[in-house]
Amino acid sequence: MCRVCGGAVHEFFDFGRQPLSDAFLDPAGVGHEYFFRLAVGICESCTMTQLIDEVARDRMFHEAYPYHSSGSVRMRRHFEETAQLLLDSHLTGPDPFIVEVGCNDGVMLKTIDKAGVRHLGVEPSGGVAQLACEQGVRVRVDFFEESVASAIVAEDGPADVIYAANTMCHIPYIGSVFRGVDALLAPDGVLVFEDPYLGDILRRNTFDQIYDEHFFFFTVRSVRNAASRFGFELVDVERLPVHGGELRYTIARAGRREPSPAVEEVAAEELELGLAAPADFDGFAASVNRIRDDLMGLLRGLRAEGKRVVGYGATAKSATVTNFCGIGPELVSFVCDATPAKNGRLMPGSHIPVRPPEALADPYPDYAVLFAWNHAEEIMAKERAFHEAGGRWILYVPEVHVV
Ligand code: SAM
Ligand code: TMP
Ligand code: ZN
Repeated sequence: MCRVCGGAVHEFFDFGRQPLSDAFLDPAGVGHEYFFRLAVGICESCTMTQLIDEVARDRMFHEAYPYHSSGSVRMRRHFEETAQLLLDSHLTGPDPFIVEVGCNDGVMLKTIDKAGVRHLGVEPSGGVAQLACEQGVRVRVDFFEESVASAIVAEDGPADVIYAANTMCHIPYIGSVFRGVDALLAPDGVLVFEDPYLGDILRRNTFDQIYDEHFFFFTVRSVRNAASRFGFELVDVERLPVHGGELRYTIARAGRREPSPAVEEVAAEELELGLAAPADFDGFAASVNRIRDDLMGLLRGLRAEGKRVVGYGATAKSATVTNFCGIGPELVSFVCDATPAKNGRLMPGSHIPVRPPEALADPYPDYAVLFAWNHAEEIMAKERAFHEAGGRWILYVPEVHVV
């Protein structure tokens, strides 16, 4: 049943039994791992694309949640620019107040704090919340939902901006979130959120965007429907080049702001692309299966030739790729990743060891699978010496290719 409207959800792809994408294992504690059925479908009524099965939120987001938003230079810059944009647009009144849902390690709010603007991050994962606090960011360790929003407005007053990046799509209880926004947002305030765009996922075959934490896959049409159901209106939309293509949605209380022409423009494009009915996903399954077959063919061939292959970027996305394709340490001996909390651990399900980036040069392998393809420019520049030494990158979106 659809988590937005209660309508029937038509399942269009089943990845089978999958582990939690960010549950990196202690090599000493292997044996107890949680699995669920990763399947995705589209609501036949409101068009919201969503997972079929839901994982309990505290299994995913807790003290040891390992993802650090500040791990990429490009994302740090993106969030500095975002903070500046919010400061210059919606936070110009007397004593403005911004709440960020899912502030992680404070990557965005630290710029807001430096500007001396009143803020609060709501972040359930205690470890990353602590990192944000150490930067001077004010954080409430909690899951954002209706009751928490009511508590915040009682303590701090209404928010001019509620902002969320790569978090709104993580929250299946969207009704509670919108009711919370209704309680907390000032009459003329805005809810701004950005998440991977279903249009880009389909266009670029980025099937690895589908994993436990990514519950919703938004479009202008589905977000517009969801907003209006809770008394809100989509008033602006902007394309973002990060994480393989995202949309940033600006939502206001219904009738309070004139929608920008961009909303109609992107909505019209979506009508051409589809993204609204089960038949629009007919080609998706074939693309995913083709990529799996091509990638496995390439990796098995390289193993037969005696080539050394490692991975780069122990992303949440890579859990879907390795477990759906059946890639283990026999094909990819280890994965380099700079995140301290992932290091020395094993990847969920596949049990491929995670090692620090320095392991790449020790000695350089013949090939490296770039699981963090959304950070390709940054990583390839950092590891230029690998390529200069004859090493080759394997990419698998939008099709399997070697560079
Ligand atoms: N905003 C950061 C960024 O874009 O890099 C972090 C994104 S991270 C993928 C998602 C974050 O949302 C995690 O830090 C997680 O703990 C948090 N989160 C999950 N459910 C939440 C909820 N109900 N309220 C607030 N944060 C939540
Ligand atoms: P993401 O695609 O979800 O942002 O995750 C990127 C992962 O790649 C994260 O675990 C950090 C890692 N990473 C590196 O190890 N080195 C880098 O230069 C970058 C940009 C990311
Ligand atoms: Zn629906």
